[in-house]
Amino acid sequence: MDRIDRREFCLGLGALSTVLILPPHMQVQAAATPENGQYPVEPVKDTMTQAQRDARMAWWNQARFGMFIHWGLYAQAAGYWNGKPVPFLGEWIMNTAKIPVADYQKLAATFDPTKFNADAWVSMAKASGVKYMVITSKHHDGFAMFKSDANKFNIVDATPFKRDPLKELAIACHKQGIKFGFYYSQDQDWTAPGGAAMRGGHWDKAQDGSFAEYLHAKAIPQLKELLANYQSEDAPAEIWFDTPTPDMTPELASEIVTLLNQHPNLLWNNRLGGGYSGDFETPEQHIPPQGFPGKAWETCMTINDTWGFKKDDTNFKSTETLLWNLIDIASKGGNYLLNVGPDATGVIPQPEQDRMLEIGKWLKVNGEAIYDTQAGPFSQEHGVYSPTEKDKKGNPIWVPVWDWRATAKPGRVFISILQWPGTKCTLPPMDARVTKATMLADRKHRALKFSQNEKGITITLPETAPDPIASVLVLHS
Ligand code: GLC
Repeated sequence: MDRIDRREFCLGLGALSTVLILPPHMQVQAAATPENGQYPVEPVKDTMTQAQRDARMAWWNQARFGMFIHWGLYAQAAGYWNGKPVPFLGEWIMNTAKIPVADYQKLAATFDPTKFNADAWVSMAKASGVKYMVITSKHHDGFAMFKSDANKFNIVDATPFKRDPLKELAIACHKQGIKFGFYYSQDQDWTAPGGAAMRGGHWDKAQDGSFAEYLHAKAIPQLKELLANYQSEDAPAEIWFDTPTPDMTPELASEIVTLLNQHPNLLWNNRLGGGYSGDFETPEQHIPPQGFPGKAWETCMTINDTWGFKKDDTNFKSTETLLWNLIDIASKGGNYLLNVGPDATGVIPQPEQDRMLEIGKWLKVNGEAIYDTQAGPFSQEHGVYSPTEKDKKGNPIWVPVWDWRATAKPGRVFISILQWPGTKCTLPPMDARVTKATMLADRKHRALKFSQNEKGITITLPETAPDPIASVLVLHS
């Protein structure tokens, strides 16, 4: 793509991603909040000093880039039911096609992902430059991808595979120095009696029952297993809850918090329900224009248009789009949790691996501009609210401008240049006095000519960009 096409493409994408702020299946919920603003059980972090809280979040704040993995029985269906393609997200197939519980459960009899290799996955993740992985231990379909004594509908007891991939991944992550976290669908469960079902509620009598009983018979015992059985590998580093419904009252949620509190370093996201805000915000499929100043946040995003594997979904985002997203997110102080959806044989689709690895190549050279950084020092915003286009709620949509982004560390500001301006680069004013300017990719650290005054900074750049996607200029002070 030439420069103009590329820009139009990204503007279009930006507009689209803003419309998708909350996916429709998440918009119906009204979060239950504690009546008096007090939690029935205080999260352990709220009893800590700021310094203790910072230490607890340190690895997560430094990481900036993580890999989400949606893997489960739905990969076996791969977006098809009874020979027909089913629309919407791959991991939602049971709900979208209203598949009876007993029929869906039959998928387990043939789920045998013999090509799964934990070391290969983790090596790939490592080469991609991610610092943490979060995998679906149980998604909304209720199928556990781990050995569970609490419920037999799990990969060890219900499939010919009989192995616990979470254990194998925990071992591999521990060995290779990657933090490992579990996604767990605590509220929706479409195969357990009493589990919640969004987008229309239950469709099979086998789903009827009390939500509290489901929580006590399945979700809480399984969370206990997840918190106990991987401790020798220092896992989980975090629990990623999802889709809370009003069923999750503050009292029920607090039973889960009591468990989580036994692991003071365990992080958990803002989707538990019951009014709990958790450790970090989770914008989904979009990058908030201003980030969340003062809060930890993580944008989770699909590489194509589904989380769980769908064989027909080849709408992969380009490496450029993904990398620009990572840079944009880091410039606003957030993390990027980028999803891959392995297939039913246990393989991460090659186009997904290719993109992850290309990001990793860039990070090998330019990682200093991303890891352990903070939002950049400039107040300039890289985008505008459209004067004409509005989202479904009538709010103006944010149209990003993909020119450059800044991140910072003590003594250094990193400018990731997305559109190479030629030899002259002008930046807005900045408080710190710049002492030197270099390109991060230049191993010889040659000093670039620059001048700084109250109107801004002007730098003389090399004629051609060191990197076709993003080249990092370093301002030392
Ligand atoms: C949504 C979907 C779910 C997916 C999650 C990831 O809430 O329900 O399928 O796992 O987003 O953020």
